[in-house]
Amino acid sequence: MSSPLRIAVLASGRGSNLAALLAAHERGELPVEFVLVASDKANAGALRLAEAAGIPTLVLNPRAYADRLAFDLDLFARLDGCGADVLVLAGFMRIIDGQALKPWVGRMINIHPSLLPKYRGLHTHRRALEAGDAEHGVSVHYVTAELDGGPVIAQARLAIQPGDDEHTLAQRLLPYEHRLLPAVLKLIADKRLQLASPDGVAFDGRQLSAPLRLQGDQLIG
Ligand code: GAR
Repeated sequence: MSSPLRIAVLASGRGSNLAALLAAHERGELPVEFVLVASDKANAGALRLAEAAGIPTLVLNPRAYADRLAFDLDLFARLDGCGADVLVLAGFMRIIDGQALKPWVGRMINIHPSLLPKYRGLHTHRRALEAGDAEHGVSVHYVTAELDGGPVIAQARLAIQPGDDEHTLAQRLLPYEHRLLPAVLKLIADKRLQLASPDGVAFDGRQLSAPLRLQGDQLIG
């Protein structure tokens, strides 16, 4: 049997997406090995989850570096050394320098709470509401030098309700996030997904014309 995909997770916050990955792994649905959880915030909940699960952790304080590039180069040098095959950004709230991430293009994914290409960056729920959108959603995409701009692998959608505010919408979206990220990672672990350069996604060897969609716990083309 081949060895499981080794992943490192980067997270800045509470870590509910990391928790979803750990739970899927625990249920035997995600054939990966967690080699590292790294954060730019010493108080990130994700680090506590990792410690509880016995996963090595790394915290780097951006204020200890001269600039963003210096931080990113050090972070990625350490990530290079941790033995990960794939990097998962699960609520990592920093823009990453294109030079630092270049060696990982095609091996790094990010979860972003919008239907990309809509609403790159911050405050995605508020912006969807302000735009009067009928639906909102979450995307998992390959990371490239362009912020939230890499090829989208898969999305989950939900209808915006008349009474929704930023908070309720974010809350209602989270369970979709928690199914989408493990489902995408499972496809990567099963070697069914590739970045098809320069800006496409190949699924089972065929270039996708639209992102995969989450139906229940399954991704469909
Ligand atoms: C999630 O909603 C994730 O989609 C978002 O941060 C949250 C992290 O929550 N990511 C971004 O906004 C990235 N641009 P978590 O720490 O509970 O997983």
